[in-house]
Amino acid sequence: MDKLIIEGGVRLVGTTEVSGSKNSLLPILAATLLTKDKCIIRNAPDLRDTLSMLRILRFLGLNTDFKENTITIRPNGLEKFEAPYKLVSTMRASFCVLGPLLARYKKAKVSLPGGCIIGVRPVDLHLKGLSKLGAKLQVKEGYVFAEAKRLQGDHIYLGGPFGSSVLATGNVMMAATLARGTTVIESAACEPEVVDLARFLIKMGAKIKGEGSPTIEIQGVKELHGVDYEIIPDRIEAATLIMAAAVTRGEVLVKRARAEHLTAVLEKLKDVGVTLKNVKEGIFVKGTMRKFKPFDIVTLPYPGFPTDAQAQFMTLMSITEGISVITEKIYPDRFMHVAELNRMGAQIKREGPYAIVHGVKFLSGAPVMASDLRASAGLILAGLVARGKTEVSRIYHLDRGYEQLDAKLKKLGARIERVKE
Ligand code: EPZ
Repeated sequence: MDKLIIEGGVRLVGTTEVSGSKNSLLPILAATLLTKDKCIIRNAPDLRDTLSMLRILRFLGLNTDFKENTITIRPNGLEKFEAPYKLVSTMRASFCVLGPLLARYKKAKVSLPGGCIIGVRPVDLHLKGLSKLGAKLQVKEGYVFAEAKRLQGDHIYLGGPFGSSVLATGNVMMAATLARGTTVIESAACEPEVVDLARFLIKMGAKIKGEGSPTIEIQGVKELHGVDYEIIPDRIEAATLIMAAAVTRGEVLVKRARAEHLTAVLEKLKDVGVTLKNVKEGIFVKGTMRKFKPFDIVTLPYPGFPTDAQAQFMTLMSITEGISVITEKIYPDRFMHVAELNRMGAQIKREGPYAIVHGVKFLSGAPVMASDLRASAGLILAGLVARGKTEVSRIYHLDRGYEQLDAKLKKLGARIERVKE
C-alpha cells in the first residue's frame, strides 16, 4: 500500500487540469450493456474505480480496451447477466448494471453492494423504480434476482428520506430507455453526471427529456446503437483543486473546471473571501492574504453544496478563525476525517449530522489515515497547509477517484512524495 508524505507551508502556484468525471463515467460504462454495438468513451479518468467497472463489464461478456483516457467497449456475443459479490462489493456504482442487464436480457442477478464507511448506502429506491417498470425482484443470499418479460413504462416517484438518488435515477433511467411506453421519473437527481448519462443515452438513440430537472421523461425505444462520447470534467476534483489553492493562499488556474457545475461551492468560497475568476480555460483561484471568514454549509442534492466536497471545505474552515458549522444531510455519518484533522490540531466537535469547527491559527503535521475517497482529499489539503510533515496512509482510497492528484499538486509546487508503506 502507498502513503503520501507532505511537507506543509507551500503556496500552490501555476496551472493544473481537471480529469474526466468518475461519477459520470461509471454509470455510462454500465449503459454500454444496453447495445450490441461498439462504444467509445473519451476523457475517461485512469482510476481504480474505472478498472473495477471494466472488470465487471468483461465478466458480463464485453471486450474492453483502455488507453490514453479512451475506453472502447465491444460486446463479444456472450450474454451473461450475473454481477458477482466479489466484484460488486468493491464498488457501489457497479450496482448500476442492474437496470441495463434487465432491459437488455430481461433478467439479472446482481449482488447487493453492501455498506461503506460513509453510511449504510441502501438501494431501496433502485429496487422501487425497477419494480415499478414491471420487474419481478427477489432479494436473497445477498443478491437481487430480477426478471421481466418486457419492461413497461410508468410514473415513478424516486424521492427518498435524503432527497433524490443519483445512481437510482441512473439505474431506472437506463432501464426505461428500452421499456414499452413512457416513463416519468419524479424527484429525479439533477446532478451534472445524471445529465451526462442522459446525453450519452440520447446519443445512443434513447428518447429522454427533462434531464437536469427533477422530472425526467423517457420514451421507450426498441434498441440502442453504439456511440462515440466524451464525458464531462470532474466537478469534485475541480472543487478539490480550487480548495487546495485557496487553503495554501496560492494562485492557480484550474483548467477545464466548469463554473456552472460548481455554483454552490464557488458561492461559498467567495463568501469565505477566496478570489475566483471564470476564464476561458477554466477557473482562476487567488487565495488572497486577506483573513478568511467562517461560514456554514449544509450538504444537499444538486444544485446544493455537494457532500463530496464537505471534507475539503472542513479543512479550509479548520484554519479559519471563528466558528463554522457543517451539516451533512446526505450521509450523516460522513465525518471520519474529523478525528484525523483533530490529530493535526484542529478543533472540531461532531454532534450527529453536525460538525462544529472552531478555527485554529495553524495545523501541525502528523501521521493520519484516509478512510474514504473524499476524506483522503481533505487530509491531503490539511497536510499542504500544516506546519511540518504529514503522512497520509491508505491512499488506495484516493486512487479510487482522483487521477494522479499528488502529481498534480507536486507540479503546483507542493512538497509531496508517494512512498510504499
Ligand atoms: C452518488 O452516490 C455518488 N457516487 C457519490 O459519490 C455521492 O456522494 C452521492 O451520489 C451523492 O451525491 C457515484 O455517482 C458513483 P445517492 P449514490 O443514491 O448515487 C440515500 C464519491 O465520493 N439512498 O445519491 O450511491 C443514500 O443513503 C461518491 O464519488 C437511499 O436512501 O448516492 C444517501 O443518503 C461517494 N436509497 C442519499 O440517498 C437508495 O436506494 C443520496 O444517495 C439510494 C440512496
